[in-house]
Amino acid sequence: MDHFLYRDGVLHAEDVPLTEIARSVGTPFYCYSTATLTRHFKLFHEALEGTDHLVCFAVKANGNVAILRTLAALGAGMDVVSAGEYARAKAAGVPGERIVFSGVGKTPQEMRAALEGGIRQFNVESEPELEVLSAVAAELGTTAPIALRINPDVDAGTHDKISTGRKEDKFGIPVGHARRVYARAAALPGIEVVGVDVHIGSQLTDLQPFEAAFGKVAELTEALREDGHDIRRLDLGGGLGIPYTRSNAPPPLPLDYGAMIRRTLGHLGCEIEIEPGRLIVGNAGVLVSSVIYEKAGEGRDFLILDAAMNDLLRPAMYGAHHDIVPVKEPLPGGPTAQKDIVGPVCESGDTFAKAREMPPVAAGDLLAFRSAGAYGASMSSEYNGRPLVPEVLVNGDQFAVIRARPSFDEMISRDNVPEWLED
Ligand code: LLP
Repeated sequence: MDHFLYRDGVLHAEDVPLTEIARSVGTPFYCYSTATLTRHFKLFHEALEGTDHLVCFAVKANGNVAILRTLAALGAGMDVVSAGEYARAKAAGVPGERIVFSGVGKTPQEMRAALEGGIRQFNVESEPELEVLSAVAAELGTTAPIALRINPDVDAGTHDKISTGRKEDKFGIPVGHARRVYARAAALPGIEVVGVDVHIGSQLTDLQPFEAAFGKVAELTEALREDGHDIRRLDLGGGLGIPYTRSNAPPPLPLDYGAMIRRTLGHLGCEIEIEPGRLIVGNAGVLVSSVIYEKAGEGRDFLILDAAMNDLLRPAMYGAHHDIVPVKEPLPGGPTAQKDIVGPVCESGDTFAKAREMPPVAAGDLLAFRSAGAYGASMSSEYNGRPLVPEVLVNGDQFAVIRARPSFDEMISRDNVPEWLED
């Protein structure tokens, strides 16, 4: 359920017509709904009610400080994977004790920044990382709280590029090595073992792979406790999928996910951390774009939009499906025709959809890409000299630009021409 609905013939974000935002900021733009964000965040809270838990939003899904602040005000923690994301979480007012630091390649500088600014836990992914973290913490006269991210060798059954829990993936420490690496961790002066971490992939549409991975976490936790480690937190990562189209079977609900967590891990009495990104923000955002041209090709018709792969990379990168709907409500049961929906970037990969059934659309019309709130703006670039598109946050009948479109001068002024090239 989201808060992007047709009203009076126009797609609204909550109480604001998207046409009004388009008039004010121009297209393309991302638009987010506070009510949807709030609702989705609360679903996880409800799913884990009665269990000591912290929902850490995966900042990589959408790092806009206004989004982070909206979630922080609801009690969210944050999952970050770089010093840049850490800085964003802090800028949104999230205290260090609610921030977990994930990622396979943390640098000593990033570790130092997090230790100095405050951190709940590092999710450590290798022995070399553990050694470096211990040295950095010891140098600062402190200890770093850690969980080891284990690789359970479970196939998440999702897109190959976003599967992270198989043994051939670069992530985590093989579960068979875990007891030995935990023993090493406990012996290091700058390390305090607090938990176990796992994350097997993204856009999972089945609970079974989660259950298999969490079963391995449960077994490992018992073994680690026997070895004398005080395992008190389990970080279960993110990954619960969202419906990208209403015609497919809906993915499992957070409530069922929560019940499964309790069933597989509840007996251990640990605090549960989860790191959802997509489910919180994915369906809380749309990308609104204008049709620049209709173009008749040989055997196919194109709609050329002012949004492109640099604004929403998911279709080009993963062949991902996004529903694309006119902002002006089409006639129910009216005529449709197949269109290839493309952007202006000079690559054939800049294709959002092929042979998509669309109601009549003309140049100048607005189209909305649904489910674009997660891994949309956060994966965008300035390829082809295209400015990052503005982001707008709606709350009831109000809206605000939460990231403005940069001017060309702003974009160009980041470059520096060395002295020897000056006239
Ligand atoms: N925790 C860790 C350690 C992660 O690596 C990720 C996502 C998450 C949490 C959040 O997962 P979520 O709940 O959002 O599924 N760009 C891709 C998705 C990449 C996900 C990477 N890691 C896409 O657009 O589909």
